[in-house]
Amino acid sequence: MKKITITSELTVFGSVEEVPQQDRELIVRAMTVRDSAYAPYSRFKVGAALRTASGAVVVGSNQENASYPSGLCAERVAVYQAGAQYPDDPIEAIAIAARSELRIVSQPVPPCGACRQAIAEYESKQGSPIRIYFTGETGEVMMTPDLQSILPLVFNRKSLDEL
Ligand code: THU
Repeated sequence: MKKITITSELTVFGSVEEVPQQDRELIVRAMTVRDSAYAPYSRFKVGAALRTASGAVVVGSNQENASYPSGLCAERVAVYQAGAQYPDDPIEAIAIAARSELRIVSQPVPPCGACRQAIAEYESKQGSPIRIYFTGETGEVMMTPDLQSILPLVFNRKSLDEL
């Protein structure tokens, strides 16, 4: 029997203003597209903006449905659109920004498990890390240098090959 310890290191910025310029612009894009979310059921609006290696920016916002499970998170709207539009252009960074119509979101809102799994697919497909920033409306911004750090023991294409 043995035990293993898994650790992750995230960077916390005191505010959006502290984030380096190029990535700060991505956060601003996520905050802007967040207003386009269609979220009449949760009133929780999320925006995502990603930048590819060639500099293209692709955005997404959450799209809900009266049949709740048919809705889709902002991050997956963005990464699937990028996969369709720029299939061979690696994703370098993704910014996620959330707000609620019911309260002030003052904590960074991390991507849900399903979105982590979706982003993990692109990280293993392209073989390079995807930097992720997440934030609320105000307050701190968190950054992970790659998806793997927030989804340890990931199930990905390597897991299938090892079967
Ligand atoms: N949501 C996202 O868009 N991204 C996440 O990572 C977490 C949740 C959306 C889904 C749903 O429309 C609303 O936020 C409430 O869960």
